[in-house]
Amino acid sequence: MIPRYLTNFNLQQIEQIKTDFLVIGSGIAGLYSGLKLANRGKVRLLTKGKLKDCNTEYAQGGIAAAIATNDNPKLHYLDTLRAGAGLTNSEAVSTLTDESQERIEELIEIGVEFDQANGELALTKEGAHSCCRVLHAGGDATGAEIRKVLGQQVQKNKRIKVDSEIFAIDLLTENNRCYGILAYDQKQEKYLAYLAQAVILATGGAGQLYAKTSNPAIATGDGIAMAYRAGVEVMDLEFIQFHPTTLELAERENFLISEAVRGEGAILRNQAGKAFMTDYHHLAELAPRDIVARAIYQEIKNSSDDHLYLDVTELDPNYIKERFPTIYRTCLEAGVDISKDYIPIAPAAHYLMGGVKVNLNGESSLAGLFVCGEAAAMGLHGANRLASNSLLEALVYGKKVADRAATFLDEPKMDFNWLQFNYDQQVRGDIPAEKIKNQIQSLMMEQAGIVRNELGLKKALAQLSKMTDYLKMTLLQIEEVEVQNLIIVAYLAVKAALIRTESRGAHYRSDFPEKNSKWNKHICLKKENRQEEFRVEVN
Ligand code: FAD
Ligand code: SIN
Repeated sequence: MIPRYLTNFNLQQIEQIKTDFLVIGSGIAGLYSGLKLANRGKVRLLTKGKLKDCNTEYAQGGIAAAIATNDNPKLHYLDTLRAGAGLTNSEAVSTLTDESQERIEELIEIGVEFDQANGELALTKEGAHSCCRVLHAGGDATGAEIRKVLGQQVQKNKRIKVDSEIFAIDLLTENNRCYGILAYDQKQEKYLAYLAQAVILATGGAGQLYAKTSNPAIATGDGIAMAYRAGVEVMDLEFIQFHPTTLELAERENFLISEAVRGEGAILRNQAGKAFMTDYHHLAELAPRDIVARAIYQEIKNSSDDHLYLDVTELDPNYIKERFPTIYRTCLEAGVDISKDYIPIAPAAHYLMGGVKVNLNGESSLAGLFVCGEAAAMGLHGANRLASNSLLEALVYGKKVADRAATFLDEPKMDFNWLQFNYDQQVRGDIPAEKIKNQIQSLMMEQAGIVRNELGLKKALAQLSKMTDYLKMTLLQIEEVEVQNLIIVAYLAVKAALIRTESRGAHYRSDFPEKNSKWNKHICLKKENRQEEFRVEVN
């Protein structure tokens, strides 16, 4: 059983911090929506680590926008729809592509320095884009540049107060209205309640569900699990994007090798040194991400090893060093000189298309709760996200969220000092979080990875169901709470993957290898009265 709250509490005994808007997360979605909200009221921005601990910091390839003379928003729209494999919300996409240029201009105005070539913004190509439309910064350090500039803006904004090392545990709700969160202050080692007229979840994705991931340690799906516990609808959790190329070396975390490297001409080679992508798709290395990831998965299965190779040795070494400085340096530190050596690569979990179900204003099914960035799901990416649309999504929909959340300033304020939760929570146990996390990650990798089937998914569900016992424990270490959240998100992702008896985009079922038009719909999951419910919603 999944409890409503992860811990017992009594609001009267907890320090309360009040604000107009509460933003949780310091990635692009949290920083940007926080800045927009600061024009309307007081903002409190929380993050569980330091400001720069987020997926955004690691974004490499860039941010998509139809700004080239041979490009337009309609082409970008069509590419996004095609990549999404029939499950994309077309209205969401047209807003995204129509508003991309305006958001990019705003970033430039506040100081983001995108790379230039011949005095113009440099644009590169990535998988399934029909032309060069990806802006980048610092070569392959786009996310770090955007986060740095947005972070500076947030820190100098007098209407925003940033609280770092505050872990959001649960949403405080009453009568289908969200009023704030219960949090744990890691510096002062105490619980806090943050109360606000509107709460914005910008907690990012859940790459840590898998043993191999491009995501940093913070990506544990906290916001999604928190929302689910509060009875909020979640959607599309079976669609987990694996990035085709991450550095695969024993004893090292999987480090991303950007799709932009293939955009610049890198070739995938199998163990025999043969280029194979044309056997799988006419766009070869630049086919949609799900297709390239599955092709590599297949080639690895056919080989005796755990990796294939990416070859950039044909490209000018000076250009490679200048264009991809982070990748060049990181590989070199790991003993791979990419200007001379093939790069050992394997796919790794990268991006969650699903999340908390929201409408086009970022409103969830719980009044007062808004979601933006990777934690949100509005069907924008369909079954497979087009490269470099994620940073853009956070800007376009971060603004929509702020516009709508601002209207909640006029909603009645609630006094809910009486709110308390008493549940027969067990005392602290001795289960090492790391061990459980490893178990989840291996299970998900083996049974709910790039290729799934009924047998494996059922096995995974049974094991994850047993782990839900672990949710009854009140824990103090945030790593333990993160594991509790991972159990919930893994359980929901597996459940959705079992329900969807077809293959589409990033969800590939070996027992149902074809796309089936009867599944042109979204799987929404919601917990009601301590029971789980799932609902299948037509697009
Ligand atoms: P994040 O940036 O992940 O931020 C989430 C924030 O929430 C963090 O600050 C985290 O600490 C905080 N948080 C989470 N849980 C809690 C909690 N319980 N309490 C308090 N705080 C919490 N996309 C592109 O468009 N282009 C790219 O080139 C690109 N490259 C990528 C490269 C890598 C290696 C990775 C991992 C992703 C890449 N992506 C790219 C995807 C993109 O970076 C992410 O989807 C995007 O940055 C998500 O932004 P976000 O603000 O939603 O979440
Ligand atoms: C990459 O640089 O390959 C990542 C781009 C993305 O995930 O959008």
